[in-house]
Amino acid sequence: MTQTILLTGGAGYIGSHTYVALKAAGFEVVILDDFSNAARDVPDRLELITGAPVRLYEGSVLDRGLLARLFTETRIDAVVHFAARKAVGESVAMPLAYFETNCTGLVGLLQEMEAACVHRLVFSSSATVYGIPDVTPTPETAPHRHMNPYGLTKITGELILDALATSDPKWAFGTLRYFNPAGAHGSALIGEDPSDIPNNLMPYIAQVAMGQRPHLQVFGDDYPTPDGTGVRDYIHVEDLAEGHVLSLKSLLETGESHLVNLGTGRGYSVLEMVAAYSAACGRALPYRIVDRRPGDVPIYCATVERARALLGFEAKRDLAQMCASSWAWIQARAQANAAGRPTPPRQD
Ligand code: WQD
Repeated sequence: MTQTILLTGGAGYIGSHTYVALKAAGFEVVILDDFSNAARDVPDRLELITGAPVRLYEGSVLDRGLLARLFTETRIDAVVHFAARKAVGESVAMPLAYFETNCTGLVGLLQEMEAACVHRLVFSSSATVYGIPDVTPTPETAPHRHMNPYGLTKITGELILDALATSDPKWAFGTLRYFNPAGAHGSALIGEDPSDIPNNLMPYIAQVAMGQRPHLQVFGDDYPTPDGTGVRDYIHVEDLAEGHVLSLKSLLETGESHLVNLGTGRGYSVLEMVAAYSAACGRALPYRIVDRRPGDVPIYCATVERARALLGFEAKRDLAQMCASSWAWIQARAQANAAGRPTPPRQD
């Protein structure tokens, strides 16, 4: 019997790539998305990639009536939960909206899962739960340290799931702490598609490469790192998606919870990223050193042994592939938009 997965936030950046990976792994998938942070034609593009219609419920994870109807109409075997707010700076400006969507949304989803006797969930967590880590690479045993409301919501989510699984062993959760997702699907039909000025490094560099931004602002070159700029553990979004499939399979097969980092164990500085993207797009990209961004940490880098031991996960794609896939995606997106075609032509 084919198992059916509910993918909340499945039209988003990581969610859409996970949709493709789940379908490739033979799962049936239902997407719940309110399109607050996703283009409306993502489902159309997912149909182009997978060759199959997308089963979509449009709405918020906060809409309990919609969730109840979804679980009534569709037999769900497990949930992969992406639907959340994820911008650190925005979380400082509007913490209550973050607590509501990320925490109340999670609790409501769990309650509807309980009512439908669904007890398997993969949770989208973040390296942000480490705050400023004492050691890098940072192991999963490092303590929670929240530095902003967004990080607090991820810590709270982890604590809720841990307490629930402890109180009732019928629950099993896969908690995945992402480091820095980057890159795009090989089809160039889906990728990171920020609706306003990108907060994150790679989509901003991509817009510089496209000539949409005059230069990159490098937020500080006086960090205790090899070249003074911030170091992050960038992981290809397709590796990340495949990590979710392995987490889900482990939950369904063992009924045991797990918590792992999803990273590569290799950090790259901002200037290394600029050089790599310059190589991918074929021209030296302009940048200016400016002041540090408040709240930034010098280095985030994952230990990767636990994901390998528990899930058999290992990132396969390198920085050059992240940059090349991002560059192909942003060019294809610009061409499709210029032609007034929200969906690029079928990739036959
Ligand atoms: C990476 C590096 C910046 C932009 C964020 C979220 C985190 C997680 C991943 C959800 C840093 C530098 C960036 C720019 C720059 N998201 N930078 N100029 O801050 O590590 O993490 O994304 O889970 O919660 O906080 O990623 O891409 O913003 O920054 O110099 O225009 O690039 O200082 O060193 P970050 P980022």
